[in-house]
Amino acid sequence: MNTVAVIGTQWGDEGKGKIVDLLARHADVVVRFQGGNNAAHTLVVDGAKFILRLVPAGALYPGKVCVIGAGMVVDPIALLEEIAELKRNANFGPDGRLKLSYDAHMVMPYHRAIDRAREARLGKAAIGTTGFGIGPAYEDKVARCGLRFSELAGFAAFERKLRRNLAEKNRYLTAVLKAKPVPVGGLIEQMREVRRKLLPHLCDTAGYLADVLERGQRVLFEGAHGTMLDIDHGTYPFVTSSSCVASAVFAGGGLPGGRLDAVLGIAKAYTTRVGAGPFPTEIKTRLGDRLREKGAEYGSATRRPRRVGWFDAVLARRAMRVNGAATLALTKLDVLTGIDPVRICVAYDFRGARSTEMPQGPVRLDRVKPVYEEMPGWHETLGDKRELGELPRNARRYLERVCELSRARLAMVGVGASRDEIIVLENPFPS
Ligand code: GDP
Ligand code: IMO
Ligand code: MG
Repeated sequence: MNTVAVIGTQWGDEGKGKIVDLLARHADVVVRFQGGNNAAHTLVVDGAKFILRLVPAGALYPGKVCVIGAGMVVDPIALLEEIAELKRNANFGPDGRLKLSYDAHMVMPYHRAIDRAREARLGKAAIGTTGFGIGPAYEDKVARCGLRFSELAGFAAFERKLRRNLAEKNRYLTAVLKAKPVPVGGLIEQMREVRRKLLPHLCDTAGYLADVLERGQRVLFEGAHGTMLDIDHGTYPFVTSSSCVASAVFAGGGLPGGRLDAVLGIAKAYTTRVGAGPFPTEIKTRLGDRLREKGAEYGSATRRPRRVGWFDAVLARRAMRVNGAATLALTKLDVLTGIDPVRICVAYDFRGARSTEMPQGPVRLDRVKPVYEEMPGWHETLGDKRELGELPRNARRYLERVCELSRARLAMVGVGASRDEIIVLENPFPS
């Protein structure tokens, strides 16, 4: 297998970064293909913690090429900061290791201002976005007024377009959103520096990937967010503004259709969500607080406490199907140690009618009641386990049931945050 995608099956933060970091060892190139710095992927290697937002999680291995694909929206200042941090703390470099698509769109300060002003005006109805300008940047892309990295080459024309956009957005910010305008101030100078520092990274990434595959090299596609945050398949409107499912690899990563060999779905052994929106299995009791503390469930991007709930097999099965994922990596099983009994949502109840499908049409996800199956828990610590057979019997039964209900083959089990705290049953890049 030469092309593998790692995709979140819940509402993000499933542990994609850790799995991508693990698989990157067997790949030549790692590609991000959608989203922006609203993603935050945490890697723990030899006790050191790295949070990647824009640079793919292949960054920690010397010699692996990291690609930021055309489908991403990239805050150039955030990218420069991330590159600088990686150079300082992880020997990241030289510049050829990071390839940034000419066609990726830029997130500008006015996108952030609009995102935040809209959320503030929505009050209780807010989506709970990261406030990083992701939605407004994708809006401009689709409206065909966005700024792409390729435009940095001819700076005079870039500057004219930037000023024009800024003037228009400032009118919208002040007149409609009743917010402060974004000053042009140092923005032009800042963009000159962006140009100087990022031009060497710019690349026809789709052409590059075609060459790499022609040479028989291995490419790993790193999904961001999760299927339930997908703009089409997620819990709209409480979603992000990009396509987060496996098919986005083709459009956003520039992979020719049909060239994806395998999709590995990632799920937590329970469920979390940051921001607003329906969450049928949310635990609102003290048990939820306990799980949040045990699992350190605080957003890596915004430090917001994550909402916590039981594993939802109805959503997981749908996500596996939408993504064409056959195998599943289940992370954070260790966090469930000591929780007894454990529960899995096997169906939804809506006004007395039971369904094992995600509600569609007039049936709303925030109105359904989860139907649970209860299983005995386990009390042993799991961090040192490296074989499935070493896990307590009840933990194995839990895994079997989760996979059976999700229609998935178990590929990996996370038993701790560190790179090596994992049980690998099936590696999509066989050695
Ligand atoms: P991502 O956005 O999907 O990459 O996930 P995040 O990095 O935002 O959040 C997952 C968190 O869980 C990170 O802090 C990881 O270090 C941590 N993590 C990943 N796998 C495991 C696991 O198996 N056990 C434990 N305890 N922590 C894990
Ligand atoms: P990773 O890649 C968790 C959520 C936000 C909000 C909604 C829209 O780390 O799994 P946005 O700023 O994207 O317009 O916010 O989407 N969200 C995430 N939640 N993990 C993520 O990424 C997320 N990316 C976006 O909290 O509810
Ligand atoms: Mg995350």
